[in-house]
Amino acid sequence: MPYNRNILCIGAGYVGGPTMAMIAHQCPDYRVTVVDINPERIAAWNSDELPIYEPGLDEIVRAVRGKNLFFSTDVEQGIRENDIIFVSVNTPTKTFGVGAGMAADLQYWEKTARQILQYAQTPKIVIEKSTLPVKTAQAMESILRHTGNGIWFEVLSNPEFLAEGSAIRDLTNPDRVLIGSRETKSGLLARQILVDIYASWVPRERILTSNIWSSELSKLVSNAFLAQRISSINAISALCEKTEADVEEVARAVGMDSRIGPKFLNASIGFGGSCFKKDILNLVYLCRHYGLDDVAAYWESVVRINEYQQERFMGTMLTAMFNTLAGKRICLFGFAFKANTGDTRESPAIFIARRLMEEKAEVVITDPQALKNARVDLNDTAGNVRYVADPYEAAAGCHAIAVLTEWDLYRKLDYRRIYESMEQPAFLFDGRNILDHQGCFDLGFNVFPLGKPPLKHF
Ligand SMILES: NC(=O)c1ccc[n+]([C@@H]2O[C@H](COP(=O)([O-])OP(=O)(O)OC[C@H]3O[C@@H](n4cnc5c(N)ncnc54)[C@H](O)[C@@H]3O)[C@@H](O)[C@H]2O)c1
Repeated sequence: MPYNRNILCIGAGYVGGPTMAMIAHQCPDYRVTVVDINPERIAAWNSDELPIYEPGLDEIVRAVRGKNLFFSTDVEQGIRENDIIFVSVNTPTKTFGVGAGMAADLQYWEKTARQILQYAQTPKIVIEKSTLPVKTAQAMESILRHTGNGIWFEVLSNPEFLAEGSAIRDLTNPDRVLIGSRETKSGLLARQILVDIYASWVPRERILTSNIWSSELSKLVSNAFLAQRISSINAISALCEKTEADVEEVARAVGMDSRIGPKFLNASIGFGGSCFKKDILNLVYLCRHYGLDDVAAYWESVVRINEYQQERFMGTMLTAMFNTLAGKRICLFGFAFKANTGDTRESPAIFIARRLMEEKAEVVITDPQALKNARVDLNDTAGNVRYVADPYEAAAGCHAIAVLTEWDLYRKLDYRRIYESMEQPAFLFDGRNILDHQGCFDLGFNVFPLGKPPLKHF
């Protein structure tokens, strides 16, 4: 059957896969193709075991795959056959040369632009879905437009705001969709085409349009603000531990101020994920580039506090367990960077596991979705590490449990059974403040929450 629109997405990752599945699901008259250079990833998207875990994703993909959603490795054909092209390739932090450790590595991005240029035979709307430094669209336009092949390319910015773990909910009912364009006749025309795609299911008042630079910058700023809130409450958790204040009570009192609001005020071992750190560092790099050193220092401190919080958690474990972890068996409850995902990129658990191994502790890792990734993350370590799916089995014989991911399942375990299976004295370090601390203390655990006085039996 003829489709009303043919849409391509280059990059079948955590963003490309779910966002395109949602468009295909909401717009049955559009044909959506997702391409990737990674054949295993595409094979997984075409199989019963999708390459990423995301609640609700399986159902949506199953409903539309093979009907109006297709996954392929044929980038060339994809570019030839589609006139609306989302680009959702990875934009990690640069690890080499100028800007190493700070700036975004745009090599995948630029390669994609050159592929589009190489294979395009008709005009294209190219949409930046990846998170990019402000002014990237200018570089994209320079590559696409100044080669004299006569084909018109219009570049739009449409950053993705989904959060892993709730991607399907976020895509179904987004707080806002942001579309930036050039304010030229062709820019506004292209912008309208993209607005119409989203308007198939997103209320018009939540579809924001802006100039292209505001759109690019808004994504970096959103992530910086979210991360800043986490670092703010984590910084206060350290002060709470010194003053016998309770960080949850403080967060409740602060969050009831309607100007502040209650979200993102849970103290924790810190933020992880592929985006927050990389996007803030990117912002810091941009500020420095424009000579705004004080602004750069302000945002850089958000990352510094995140590292401080992880080191502090590690210090608490070491001090509490009589200043030695050598030969002790520590069970990590959770390895994913947050609940409801198998993603471990930049997970604080990687740092904690490595530091524990440096202290010569034995590490047992359990997680309902992230064990496969955990093995990859730690495959270069010489330390003693085991991966155990069942949390009861994982905790048995351990000296301590550290809760690193806020999986709901950890709230519901039988902690009496766990306590009785552990070495004594048994320690519980709650890096997410999700457990019943008094209840666990009453069972016999020595409990170390974040930002609250510890509950110790000695
Ligand atoms: N993960 C998130 O929650 C999230 C949320 C919002 C925005 N973002 C941004 O979206 C972008 C993508 O993130 P992700 O988490 O989906 O990354 P990802 O690493 O999961 O996926 C990127 C995919 O692009 C593919 N790719 C790279 N170069 C290619 C090329 N030339 N041709 C075809 N495929 C190519 C890779 O093989 C990979 O599968 C990043 O810029 C990220 O910052 C991510």
